[in-house]
Amino acid sequence: MVCQLDRRNILVTGGCGFIGTNFIRHALDIRPDWHIVNLDLLTYAGNPENFNDLSLENKKRYSFIQGDIRDSDFLNSLFEKESFDGVIHFAAESHVDRSIQGPDVFVDTNVTGTFRLLEASLVSWKKAGRPDSFRFHHISTDEVYGSLGPDGYFTETTPYDPSSPYSASKAASDHFVNAYLKTFDLPSLITNCSNNYGPFQFPEKFIPLMILNIMEEKQLPVYGDGKNIRDWLYVIDHCEAIIKVFEEGKPGETYNIGGNAEYQNIDIVYLLCDMLDDRIGRFGNNSSRKLIQFVTDRPGHDRRYAIDATKIRNELGWMPRYTFDTGMKATIDWYMENVEWVNSVRSGEYREWIKNNYDKRKVK
Ligand code: NAD
Ligand code: DAU
Repeated sequence: MVCQLDRRNILVTGGCGFIGTNFIRHALDIRPDWHIVNLDLLTYAGNPENFNDLSLENKKRYSFIQGDIRDSDFLNSLFEKESFDGVIHFAAESHVDRSIQGPDVFVDTNVTGTFRLLEASLVSWKKAGRPDSFRFHHISTDEVYGSLGPDGYFTETTPYDPSSPYSASKAASDHFVNAYLKTFDLPSLITNCSNNYGPFQFPEKFIPLMILNIMEEKQLPVYGDGKNIRDWLYVIDHCEAIIKVFEEGKPGETYNIGGNAEYQNIDIVYLLCDMLDDRIGRFGNNSSRKLIQFVTDRPGHDRRYAIDATKIRNELGWMPRYTFDTGMKATIDWYMENVEWVNSVRSGEYREWIKNNYDKRKVK
């Protein structure tokens, strides 16, 4: 059932991060009846300037509030004031390597933060008379399922088996969302998505890190043997899947989202080197492939992720629109055209992280 309301007031958490930014920008464009409140703490990963260039029409339907999903008093007064028709919850600590170096904040934000947001949503939903149309949509990850061998796919019934503090914290948050549905009837949905790539991704993650390092002729650090496999999805396809599930998904259901685009890490690095070399004009002995360095592996490094997206395709009619080639070209274009954005997010904290994560990895 599509929710029919004249105007929807939607709370998006973590909207200044990578996927949240793309989601809000896209949703404002394609849902003229939505007003979006973006609640974000602005950690190192959040950038409110991502919305500076919104059209006047979209600006009228967008507001930003800086705040912490772990702060119940703040959340309760926000929900009291705003009366939301739905919550789309992106806010999280999202980088696996950081969760290995400092897991505490992952438990605080991803578990406690999600729990506090559920509580505030429940209180306000009850006060509003338990409207059927309300949705709590939790954005989760395929990493909750653990690691695959060479065959098979993650389905919605694959048992949870997280490997990193990040994925364990996301798994715990998924369980809380399900518990609030089963115990208190809060109409919630969960989507578990594979690796995203695209504009506005913070350059600590694999694809933007490699693109920028190639552009700047820096070393390309490939963990382990480079044969780990991820299932890549262009971020706008993820955003469209979220809108589908938010509007048409059945409360209590989980939907897996994936790109059906499995690649070994090393093949992605080769591809990025070749695509960028073509544009920059580096040939022969000058090829960027010479920058590749195999370095110490990530502890607990999941070998393979691959999503079976049959359920969302059959039940809701969602399919990715971008191929890996069109998505990757759009991503490279964006990073080449947005050097100012890149420089603005690579703060002192970023440089410290890069030093911390890579200096101690031995070159193999
Ligand atoms: P990100 O790290 O780029 O952004 C996270 C955002 O959350 C930032 O803007 C940050 O400021 C905000 N935030 C962090 N702690 C907060 C707090 N306590 N209160 C309010 N805001 C806070 O992350 P992303 O890559 O955009 O991922 C968004 C969501 O999607 C996460 O829940 C992640 O687990 C999930 N996910 C990501 C991917 C991926 O490939 N990036 C794939 C599947 C699922
Ligand atoms: O699968 C969904 C998940 O994808 C999301 O839940 C996470 O928030 C998101 O960060 C991502 O997790 P990964 O660990 O898969 O992504 P990351 O970009 O960190 O790494 C992708 C692969 O590349 C992984 O196998 C590790 C490898 N890698 C990563 C970095 C940063 C390298 O070889 N070198 C690197 O420098």
